Amino acid sequence: MSGQPVRNLLRSCVPRASFVRKYNGVSGVAPGVKDKNEHPNVLITGSLGQLGTGLAKVMRQRYGRNNVIMSDILKPSKEILESGPYVFADILDFKKLQELIVNYNIDWIIHFSALLSAIGENNVPLAMRVNIEGLHNVLELAKQYRLKIFVPSTIGAFGPDSPRDPTPDLCIQRPRTIYGVSKVHAELMGEYYYHKFGMDFRSLRFPGIISADTNPGGGTTDYAVKIFHDALKTGHFKCYLREDTRLPMMFIDDCLRSVVEFMETPDSKLKMRTYNVTAMSFTPGEIVEEVRKHVPELKVTYEIDGRQDIADTWPKRFDDSNARADWGWKHTLDLPGMCKAMFDFLAPSEKPEQRIKM
Ligand code: SER
Repeated sequence: MSGQPVRNLLRSCVPRASFVRKYNGVSGVAPGVKDKNEHPNVLITGSLGQLGTGLAKVMRQRYGRNNVIMSDILKPSKEILESGPYVFADILDFKKLQELIVNYNIDWIIHFSALLSAIGENNVPLAMRVNIEGLHNVLELAKQYRLKIFVPSTIGAFGPDSPRDPTPDLCIQRPRTIYGVSKVHAELMGEYYYHKFGMDFRSLRFPGIISADTNPGGGTTDYAVKIFHDALKTGHFKCYLREDTRLPMMFIDDCLRSVVEFMETPDSKLKMRTYNVTAMSFTPGEIVEEVRKHVPELKVTYEIDGRQDIADTWPKRFDDSNARADWGWKHTLDLPGMCKAMFDFLAPSEKPEQRIKM
């Protein structure tokens, strides 16, 4: 993964004192071998999804190329293979995961393997295996090997009975998707392991994430990524949510930085194990208006599908004031800034009037 958004993030992640000791080179250093006082060794599961490639890049800059092990069940691109250690790992294969933890001397697990909201509804048994059994495996590993563990949660962990505008950290959670149910399960299990076994479990509830060089895989908020590709490729955006459907969102650089900053926060500062984080909140109508400042001729049609029913049960705005107060969470991009960052990445050399290609 390369490009502007991640470069911006790298600039914005200023190393803290404990992380400035220079990583002593890449060549000749076996993956995972390090001085224990230096950087953590990190295993990222599901790393070929929307967030993993970017997070590996950011963490490798901070902790060292060989300290961050990407894993997935897919064949990686040449670029990924050349960027640092990449291994096959099926989240359902506990023994293989044990082997990886031992062989790479892992300290942290970032557990990204999951089926998202829309795709999960189309294959509930698979979603249960990956999202629930997979989680049990990584929790058990984290307990056995005393690892710090990060599991993302989501706006989808709330449901129609939750307060939706805004949605606080602590309130009724009765989601109606298997994805949401599995994420509430992850939050509760992680917090249980924290209290019962002292395991350093951390989770952030993410809004829809808008990324430039990776794609989300089957979520309800994917339209907010699709609009940019449709605008540039065909000039016609077909939206599957109603024009007035408000959902919380965040640009990927802010999302990846939130993970790094949260993981580096001393335990003593955390008052909870699971925090809401967000950056902005908009409707399809509002993002269309903003995108038209870059692609004035953009044509938009609304063809509503089953994802509307999911969106109608989710938070409209997210209250992340606890994350801001407890560990200093701060987003950098709002709707106009995010749209500019997307176009700067996807069509850097074109002026707004040149961006439409019919
Ligand atoms: N982006 C996710 C989805 O739409 C929400 O966490 O499923």
